[in-house]
Amino acid sequence: MDIIYSVSELRERLRREPDNVFVPTMGNLHDGHIDLIRVAKPRGSCTVVSIFVNRLQFGPREDYERYPRTLETDCARLKQAGVDVVFAPDEREIYPEPQTYVVEPSDLQHILEGAHRPGHFRGVATVVLKLFNLVMPHSAIFGKKDYQQYLVLRDMVRQLALPIEIIPADTVRAPDGLALSSRNAYLSPDERREAPRLYQVLRESQDDIAGGARDFQRIELNGMSKLADEGWKPDYVAVRRQADLQPPEPGDSALVVLAAARLGRTRLIDNIEVTAPH
Ligand code: PAF
Repeated sequence: MDIIYSVSELRERLRREPDNVFVPTMGNLHDGHIDLIRVAKPRGSCTVVSIFVNRLQFGPREDYERYPRTLETDCARLKQAGVDVVFAPDEREIYPEPQTYVVEPSDLQHILEGAHRPGHFRGVATVVLKLFNLVMPHSAIFGKKDYQQYLVLRDMVRQLALPIEIIPADTVRAPDGLALSSRNAYLSPDERREAPRLYQVLRESQDDIAGGARDFQRIELNGMSKLADEGWKPDYVAVRRQADLQPPEPGDSALVVLAAARLGRTRLIDNIEVTAPH
């Protein structure tokens, strides 16, 4: 496995590799990331993973500074997972000058996560386009845990006609249901015991919808109050269409329930897909 820090070395190394599959990450890797690599490996002869904590996608009051940087242990895990190339640039390598040209995603960037994290998806789309231009993969893997991010990037690739297939990967969960996330490390032992409630609430909403309930507003309010009753500060519980995250119209059946809520100082997000009966 090659660990590469500079853009010039990366370009040189990948010149010989036309069959790249790419897994972009911000490091602090957990089993969910390793699963993305499992999805990536059979799709090409060279699996490339980037590790870069992208300042552009963090708000001024978010955790950019305290986001864990664990390059050594990350690389050990990636080597074991059979990754071919790790690209771990520092900030000057990716942003040698202020990034004044940016990718402005569609209206999708202003709803749900975007409404609570202004500029977040602009930052994600900009760095991912830049990484795509450096790695030049034919496929890239994104976890459905960040459902809205996956849709933003899928639409970016389609609208800008990038020759890259965006492949979604299922969310990996702890045995108690909590979706794996680097931010779980911020939870205290008590919060960690409470954290699976977010998924329980989503499962209950899923059961209601699969059972024929169509009063989505009531489902959303129920979910929010179940969380608030246990001390969470929910930002949203929302039933949306899988295709574009808009509120469902009569007859829509491919839905997703998304939630974001703060537990103590940690903000967790999760979602669950559901097919509503006709
Ligand atoms: O999902 C992430 O870890 C990040 O948003 C990504 C896609 C690596 C861009 O910085």
